Amino acid sequence: MTAAKSRYPQVYERWRKNPLKFWRDAAKAIDWATPPKTIFDPDAGVYGRWFPDAVCNTCFNAVDRHVKNGRKNQPAIIYDSPVAKAKRTITYGELLAEVKVLAAVLKDMGVAKGDRVIIYMPMIPEALFAMLACARIGAIHSVVFGGFAAKELATRIDDAQPKVVLSASCGVEPNRVVAYKPLLDEAIALAGGKPDACLIFQRKQLKAPLTRGRDRDWARAVTAAKKAKKSARVVNVAATDPLYILYTSGTTGVPKGVVRDNGGHMVALQWSMENIYGVKPGEVFWAASDIGWVVGHSYIVYAPLLAGCTTILYEGKPVGTPDPGAYWRVIAEHNVAALFTAPTAFRAIKKEDPNADYLKRYDLKNFRTLFLAGERADPDTIKWAENSLHRPVIDHWWQTETGWTIAGNPVGLGMLPVKYGSPTAPMPGYDIAILDESGHPLKDGEMGTIAIRLPLPPGALPTLWRQDERFCESYLAQFPGFYTTSDAGFRDEDGYIYVMGRTDDVINVAGHRLSTGGMEEVLASHPNVAECAVIGVRDDLKGETPWGFLVLKSGVDRPAGEVERECVALVREQIGPVASFKLAIVVQRLPKTRSGKILRGVMKKIADRDDWRMPATIDDPAVLDEIGAALAVRS
Ligand code: COA
Ligand code: AMP
Repeated sequence: MTAAKSRYPQVYERWRKNPLKFWRDAAKAIDWATPPKTIFDPDAGVYGRWFPDAVCNTCFNAVDRHVKNGRKNQPAIIYDSPVAKAKRTITYGELLAEVKVLAAVLKDMGVAKGDRVIIYMPMIPEALFAMLACARIGAIHSVVFGGFAAKELATRIDDAQPKVVLSASCGVEPNRVVAYKPLLDEAIALAGGKPDACLIFQRKQLKAPLTRGRDRDWARAVTAAKKAKKSARVVNVAATDPLYILYTSGTTGVPKGVVRDNGGHMVALQWSMENIYGVKPGEVFWAASDIGWVVGHSYIVYAPLLAGCTTILYEGKPVGTPDPGAYWRVIAEHNVAALFTAPTAFRAIKKEDPNADYLKRYDLKNFRTLFLAGERADPDTIKWAENSLHRPVIDHWWQTETGWTIAGNPVGLGMLPVKYGSPTAPMPGYDIAILDESGHPLKDGEMGTIAIRLPLPPGALPTLWRQDERFCESYLAQFPGFYTTSDAGFRDEDGYIYVMGRTDDVINVAGHRLSTGGMEEVLASHPNVAECAVIGVRDDLKGETPWGFLVLKSGVDRPAGEVERECVALVREQIGPVASFKLAIVVQRLPKTRSGKILRGVMKKIADRDDWRMPATIDDPAVLDEIGAALAVRS
């Protein structure tokens, strides 16, 4: 892999030759309470731990040090909400004041170092104050995306056992106000362990009745703490202590609690801002995602603030709030230098404004680069964005588990030539192998599972929350010495990585990661359903959408349409609207192998209208004709 101007080959080689020196150097960009002497301890944790003897605080690095170093009056957060018709700029100085006081409120509520705090909030500045306030006092936050239903929230409450839940009265979607409090109340009722208290931020769109003895009003608590001049000091933690738990979909309905540490996370994210994103302190960075996802954690909150940038907190959509020019308006109005979003957002814009006419209304003079991740970036979308923006469009690949880029095109090091369909090259820290089912490395061009040689770099998960064994089983057991990404792909002769899709039951819907196994569990709980299969079917806008196939119990004498509608409602109710589960189809039988395994792969091919071959192991080939016929009726 060569590129005249890119420093990438030398930098990657520098890491490969001496990873410890590479990360020791990178760690100098962080202000440590006790700097690391040991960079990596291979005997600690499951596969080793980064910076095991260092002491630090993430909030201090993201906020305090910038105030100390002259950024007090620089905007830290620009909140822009077309749905709530609100805008607010918060300087680093103001952010520090807000975080100190909220952290003091949390302490008064009994939250101490190592306690968990669940944050179930919409995209408002208070949600960021909450994350940073937890970091300040060494509490471990777990943000739950607002589009999840009560049952999903309950599962997370059960697993994280939070001392306190922070929430708001509502979220604002373009077509409706989403009341959060009833969902929170139901979740707490469903959960085995209960939080001691909840702090509720009342938004003006909807006031929530508070539960006596449990709920406190956020604004009132903060105002009282301000009046009493309360302010929480930074609590230093071990670099290996958890900063947060973020639950992500696995193969079953029980999500995985991805743990992020403090030290490695800071080092990796700080390195990424300059070297991958090419963004300097003081510049404006916008990740159009949600704080409930990893992209939001890393690139709305922590990385831009660690780097001393201004971050945009956008509560809206790429289209319809009010039009497909929304992103261009935000970029122009706030001087955004780099935008990071999911390809689905650009597919939505392209669909509504194919000639990019709205773009002509705005001056994007300071805008340099568009970054895409979260799902495979189809070449058509990348080309459309390039031709419309006349700027580089960078696909990069990562996962909740890694927290930052596995493979990308490092703008800060100088761009490598773009190959459409490839997120380009592995970043320092990642030694990638393409393995066959028995763990043998494959040749260039051959498709296999993409695995990362251990240890994972700083910033990537050290384990799952209180589940070392599940971590080993899910990620390390398949290929000893490697972490499996559960993504399939290949490497070409120039070393470019191609990521083609998941090898497990995880699907990607509008950049949101969902478990088909989880949806099947919900469908199977319907009293009339004998068995079911959920597959991710190709979708022009969302990349994939889930379709459910249902076989009814014998003797069920109800119209199929009725059960189908109930099943669609059940998934929305139990998993949430974010699942985008809109289609359930009753069929007579599911296609299976002779040993009884459901042939989901071939069902997907039929639904996607791809070429497919009759699997040699199929029990009864006629079932596939029945599936085809059932789908033909729907299309
Ligand atoms: N709270 C409550 N409900 C939410 C929600 C939230 N925070 N976020 C989404 N939902 C709801 C939506 O209102 C929608 O409900 P509906 O079925 O009643 O219409 C449902 O969940 C599905 O949401 P979504 O998949 O986002 O679809 P959409 O039609 O609202 O928007 C896009 C489609 C492409 C415009 C949108 O997904 C998008 O902007 N994506 C790009 C950015 C991004 O989110 N990236 C994520 C990771 S980087
Ligand atoms: P999440 O954990 O929600 O970030 O989702 C991670 C998954 O999204 C990965 O395992 C991939 O399947 C997919 N993904 C993310 N980014 C890309 C990309 N740039 N190209 C292809 N797939 C991607």
